Amino acid sequence: MTPALHLEALTKKFGEKVAVDGLDLALEPGAFLGLLGRNGAGKSTTLKMVTGLLKPTSGRIRVLGLDLEADPLAVKRQIGAMPEDMALLDMLTGPQYLRFVGRMYGMPDALIDGRREELFDALDLAPGPKTLIADYSFGMKKKVALCAALIHGPQVVFLDEPFEGIDPVTSRTIKDILQSLQQRGVTLVLTSHILEVVEKLCPLIAILDEGRLKGFGPLDELRRGGESLEQLFVDLVGGGQKGALSWL
Ligand SMILES: Nc1ncnc2c1ncn2[C@@H]1O[C@H](COP(=O)(O)OP(=O)(O)OP(=O)(O)O)[C@@H](O)[C@H]1O
Ligand SMILES: [Mg+2]
Repeated sequence: MTPALHLEALTKKFGEKVAVDGLDLALEPGAFLGLLGRNGAGKSTTLKMVTGLLKPTSGRIRVLGLDLEADPLAVKRQIGAMPEDMALLDMLTGPQYLRFVGRMYGMPDALIDGRREELFDALDLAPGPKTLIADYSFGMKKKVALCAALIHGPQVVFLDEPFEGIDPVTSRTIKDILQSLQQRGVTLVLTSHILEVVEKLCPLIAILDEGRLKGFGPLDELRRGGESLEQLFVDLVGGGQKGALSWL
């Protein structure tokens, strides 16, 4: 079967710094991967490369069999992405921004508005009609970014820290939405530091450390000893215990 996502020796260097170091990974269609790693491990850099926001130094990315470098537009039609910085247009209202995004995908306005209303309703997002995204709360911006990632019905979805700054009620809704997407055969990759969420949501785990894959596989297989995901994470990438601060 053609993998939904296929990375071969994917590498990104920033000067001397190797942020992503020869990543090999293949995901079947319908997979739901939790990409974990400490701050600076290379998660966002990886997602930026697979969504075409950042050019790899070397290596190959294929999405649903399409080569990202050779055919970037064909890939972008198939994917939905929520980047780390959300990349919203602050001087638009949420509905205006989603019109902009939907039109880029060639969607008619009525379809965009209908889906946007459903998404806003599901996420309890009810901004004032004239309020600009610049004046939305952090969580509201996150919700708009999630709407933008999903509005065109993508086959592969990449979400960078979708649960950070999101309230518990909305978190549950987002989990339900993501699970129903997976049930419909959509492939999902998310990063998160909230291990309880990852544990519940993602049957497949990849743990990055200094740009390299330290662990990859079904969660149940990775923690054969029955340990928690947190323990597995610390065992694979944890540094030693740091001492107390000298002045406290
Ligand atoms: N544009 C850039 N220029 C220079 N270095 C960069 C750039 N982007 C990322 N890096 C470096 O690459 C490494 C990986 O960063 P990245 O943002 O991918 O980490 P991350 O795993 O997403 O971390 P976090 O959990 O904190 O979001 C870091 O050392 C970071 O400083
Ligand atoms: Mg990051």
